[in-house]
Amino acid sequence: MPKSRPASPRWALLLSFVVLFGCFIIPAVTVEHANFKKCHQSGFCKRNRAYADEVSAQGYSWNSPYELDAASIRFKDGQLQGTVVKTVSANEKVKLPLTISFLESGAARVTVDEEKRLKGDIELRHGSKVRKERYNEVEKWVLVGGLELSKSATLNPETESGLTKVLYGPENKFQAIIRHAPFDVQFQRDGQTHVQFNNKGYLNVEHWRPKVDHPEGDGEKEKEETWWEETFGGNTDSKPRGPESVGLDISFPGYSHVFGIPEHADSMSLKETRGGSGNHEEPYRMYNADVFEYETNSPMTLYGSIPFMQAHRKDSTVGVFWLNSAETWVDIVKTKSYPNPLALGVGAKTTTQTHWFSESGRLDVFVFFGPSPQEISKAYGELTGYSQLPQQFSLGYHQCRWNYVTDEDVREVDRKFDKYKIPYDVIWLDIEYTDGKKYFTWDPLTFPDPRGMQEQLDESERKLVIIIDPHIKVESGYPVVEELKSNGYATKSKDDNIYEGWCWPGSSHWVDCLNPEAAKWWAGLFPYDKFKDTLHNTFIWNDMNEPSVFNGPETTMPKDNVHHDNWEHRDIHNINGIALVNATYNGLLERKKGEIRRPFVLTRSYYAGAQRMSATWTGDNQASWEYLAISLPMVLNNGISGFPFIGADVGGFFGDPSKELLTRWYQAGIWYPFFRGHAHIDTRRREPYLIGDPYTAIIAQAIRLRYQLLPAWYTAFHEASVNGTPVVRPQFYVHPADESGFDIDDQLYLGSTGLLAKPVVSEGATSVDIYIADDEKYFDYFDYTIYQGAGKRHTVPAPLEKIPLLMQGGHIIPRKDRPRRSSGLMKWDPYTLVVALDKNGKADGTIYIDDGETFDYESGAYIHRRFSFQDSTLSSEDVGTKGPKTAKFLKSMEGVRIEKVVIVDPPKEWQEKSSVTVIENGAKAASTSPLEYFAQERGKAPFAILKDPNVGIGNTWSIEF
Ligand code: NOJ
Repeated sequence: MPKSRPASPRWALLLSFVVLFGCFIIPAVTVEHANFKKCHQSGFCKRNRAYADEVSAQGYSWNSPYELDAASIRFKDGQLQGTVVKTVSANEKVKLPLTISFLESGAARVTVDEEKRLKGDIELRHGSKVRKERYNEVEKWVLVGGLELSKSATLNPETESGLTKVLYGPENKFQAIIRHAPFDVQFQRDGQTHVQFNNKGYLNVEHWRPKVDHPEGDGEKEKEETWWEETFGGNTDSKPRGPESVGLDISFPGYSHVFGIPEHADSMSLKETRGGSGNHEEPYRMYNADVFEYETNSPMTLYGSIPFMQAHRKDSTVGVFWLNSAETWVDIVKTKSYPNPLALGVGAKTTTQTHWFSESGRLDVFVFFGPSPQEISKAYGELTGYSQLPQQFSLGYHQCRWNYVTDEDVREVDRKFDKYKIPYDVIWLDIEYTDGKKYFTWDPLTFPDPRGMQEQLDESERKLVIIIDPHIKVESGYPVVEELKSNGYATKSKDDNIYEGWCWPGSSHWVDCLNPEAAKWWAGLFPYDKFKDTLHNTFIWNDMNEPSVFNGPETTMPKDNVHHDNWEHRDIHNINGIALVNATYNGLLERKKGEIRRPFVLTRSYYAGAQRMSATWTGDNQASWEYLAISLPMVLNNGISGFPFIGADVGGFFGDPSKELLTRWYQAGIWYPFFRGHAHIDTRRREPYLIGDPYTAIIAQAIRLRYQLLPAWYTAFHEASVNGTPVVRPQFYVHPADESGFDIDDQLYLGSTGLLAKPVVSEGATSVDIYIADDEKYFDYFDYTIYQGAGKRHTVPAPLEKIPLLMQGGHIIPRKDRPRRSSGLMKWDPYTLVVALDKNGKADGTIYIDDGETFDYESGAYIHRRFSFQDSTLSSEDVGTKGPKTAKFLKSMEGVRIEKVVIVDPPKEWQEKSSVTVIENGAKAASTSPLEYFAQERGKAPFAILKDPNVGIGNTWSIEF
């Protein structure tokens, strides 16, 4: 991602036009397509697509070469083992060991390996010393549980020749039907097939073979063109193991929507990829890369990959997780079938067929059966881990730019936020704070007093995040590079030398965090006594960890580079980023003996599992409305894919946003789980106080709304950390039976609060249309205007100063209403509860609170309460189990009370009431609290305010109205 690039003649021409006509046009910049492979430029992608085309063309006459050898099948303890035989020719058969594991969780896992490679019975080319097996360690980095084999799974006694049937899942209501020849698997729930493997016959395991030198002009030579070597952008990949891709079709009969497989700048409901109107021509690609000036509405790869897909239809969600860390592509095609051919279109059923292929590694796929989106989140989280419960501060606002240029600059920005009364929690330093791009150092001229700077931030409980990238400057005398080299902790090139490439510092080496020793060493660079002049309020940003290599193929590392244990980079590419983050996370856990705190690490590159240790963002977007709009589906999609702690650079990274765009972006950004303003070094300064009123005031209001709702955000993050539910949720997730809402990805719900936001993402808008699925009342958050009517869009006014936000009736929302400079300073502030009643006069909600920074919550140091309102009584009851540290925590929170309760849409009779009865911890409060009722004009719900009920946030109480 170079800072800037020379102007091409085309640009020069355009520029002169702009100057000539004196108009102010900002031309949209877009990705250099030639730098990234299209499918036809990636050998295995082209081969797998061609294979699929050939299979489809042959139709019924196609004979899949894959057959499960019936004699090899063994079923024991919830696992089926056998050998799939691939017939290459009459004389050549390839053995592919198969396992199908039925897990206690109800998920199933299918793996296919290759016997010859597994046994090391192959020859490597070019005298290479890399591993001969298909990569089989990705699970070490990704899976953390959920692998217990089912005790009840059993072979179905009703046998049929040529089929093996296994009953599994809850009450054995799931069934896997395994056909032997050709080999395919159908996964059924309640007698209905929901997921099919190899139904289309695209299963393709490229087996090992020796290279044959074909004569020139021989068709074979051309066919094998990309088998043994591949050149792209002047870089040749040597492929010591020859072709070895794995491909499989996975169909979802009856499902017309598939979501997931981030990261792509695209709609949440994935599009078809085989061309046609509105469809993509290219498959969705997952090959983590630094895509300079990425484009929107595109299946191109981006910085992170989570090969987890969900298919959704009315009342059923199913999922598949493709556990492979090599380059992966996914084609999607939807077909319609008509149960009654005479009534075309009536009862048409859409089936989504997906086709997955990875360049190397094993075939390893999990199938989840839901049937609710929540159950899918839970099962996937059980396997790959739930997202980390973050430090409370990290849910506040983050102020970043490339770069704050001196420590005095940082102090000044800090003071200005206070002057303008804009809360923020974290200020960030990009690469320029270092001494010549040498990480773990400070530039002595521009940052002469980093301690003083951090101390100033600490005075208002604010934090600093500084960037540490994985490329290490080649410079003699720089201790980090010296240690990296002398210990052998760097990634190697194919010829066994330390790999050298180009990044911010110029010539660089890359730490190989796949090496446990290297990872330990890296973690050891973060303690306070090692990373000099960093204090307890400093945290870390890992950028460029795809890894980004400016002079590498597709701006990354050559695939034939070699990592620890002689695995090729090709095999591990997509987990390279999380290996670094894992080491950084460990480094931040205990920076001083005995001081164990939750780390905060932001990563650009990610894979499944990253949610356990980091936050991420959508990378280098642009200051345009289009990028503001696409940020919503991107954030939502990551959330349902198990990694909810994400946001987009508020304001856009490249370019200068107009004042309106910046303002709207803040109003949208407050709904990103990770809320950070960031900008490229060449952009104008745009801290919110600089833009001037009314914009500054409006932005400040938006940020204050984020802070007001922090208790709800923290509760949503807690839910994510125990259930895997997204922090912000798309429409289908909350209303899984409402078909009209399935592809809505521009409005979102905050956790389980019933808060429904629809950010403005277009210029000049004065209203938005919010889709409402059910017939509950939805109340405007600010003035309680009522919107009601299921299955349609409702126009909600949205002049610049207004954030379109509704509350679904039936929820109790916890808030903190006192404006402060940072979230840390709000710690002891009292709470407000907003009770938005439903049609039946009921509501409920939850709150989760802990110290926001340590792991003491694991020993019970937390408050988790359920609030409910029914029969005119609001009550608070305890949720969940506790531990040894509960009592002490509760004591520390004793003084934290509820200062206000707002009831939205109370019954009219309340007009007559002026007080309520409060019972706390079994005893009636000495005095009653005053209640005020506010009738409102037509269209708006009445509300009542109860001031100072003075009940403790951690206590059991009830308030009778
Ligand atoms: C690329 C990152 O995406 C961007 O956010 C950062 O500012 C630059 N690297 C410089 O570190």
